Amino acid sequence: MTAKIIDGKALSLKLRVAFRARVSKLIDQGIRPGLAVILLGDNAASRVYVRNKINACDDCGLKSFPHLLSPDTTQDQLLELIEGLNEDEEVHGILVQLPLPPHIDMRKILEAIAVDKDVDGFHLYNVGSLVVGNSIFPPCTPYGVQLLLDTTGIDVAGKNVVVVGASNIVGKPMALMLLQKEATVTVCHAKTRDLAQHTILADILIVAAGVPGLITGQLVKRDAIVIDVGINKLPDGSIVGDVDFASVKERASWLTPVPGGVGPMTVTMLIENTLRSAERRLGIGRGIGSEGWDAASL
Ligand code: GUN
Repeated sequence: MTAKIIDGKALSLKLRVAFRARVSKLIDQGIRPGLAVILLGDNAASRVYVRNKINACDDCGLKSFPHLLSPDTTQDQLLELIEGLNEDEEVHGILVQLPLPPHIDMRKILEAIAVDKDVDGFHLYNVGSLVVGNSIFPPCTPYGVQLLLDTTGIDVAGKNVVVVGASNIVGKPMALMLLQKEATVTVCHAKTRDLAQHTILADILIVAAGVPGLITGQLVKRDAIVIDVGINKLPDGSIVGDVDFASVKERASWLTPVPGGVGPMTVTMLIENTLRSAERRLGIGRGIGSEGWDAASL
């Protein structure tokens, strides 16, 4: 049996229909949701991601505030910009595209973003909220993966989940979210000695390692659910994931493609977080420290 495909593009389009209705409701009440997107420098991949985020705002009816800054922008200038955006009533979400150039202290920048506009969920307060099991702004990529998993109808409670990759953006928050849903979570990373020994036990395998084709069929338990977070550009210009699609498709029960799997969901969940921030202004939805994310509420 070959794996069923989890279609992130289709889910993303479906969610966006609901988002447009939420935006209309907000506009009726005098609020046009706004997202500030800051890009510092000329990293080619970051430029593409930022453009996609701005296009997603247009697509869903949000106002975007792009700040495309030169690579020699100083840390103080960046902090001053963020302070202004924190005070700006028209801005409900602030996103600083990562990575930042080496002369900028990333932690200082992320901690400068107002907690209630931190739609990336990278501020320490929001990271801590995730640790204790509630968060108003779950980081966008793991949040998207959570929804993709929900579409399979499989309850993660009690399942062996293996996350390959321990980044602050994907692997660690992903592991925390799944732990909160009562999965048994293992996190593997570049120093893991025998990767296959772990992955072969995974009922659900989530791969965010940034290594093209790292996971082949041999490393996958039969009928596992496999989520490929990797987006790698090969020398010939093609985009591939961290999972060897052809061999894994013969082993897994469900599999995300690249492109068209996790990628579109990341951008879509950024819009979800920005809408949630705008709705909080009106007292709709959840507040900081209240109940956690819930796919059914989307
Ligand atoms: N760089 C790679 N992924 C992300 C993300 O989700 N948010 C931001 N701000 N930067 C990134």
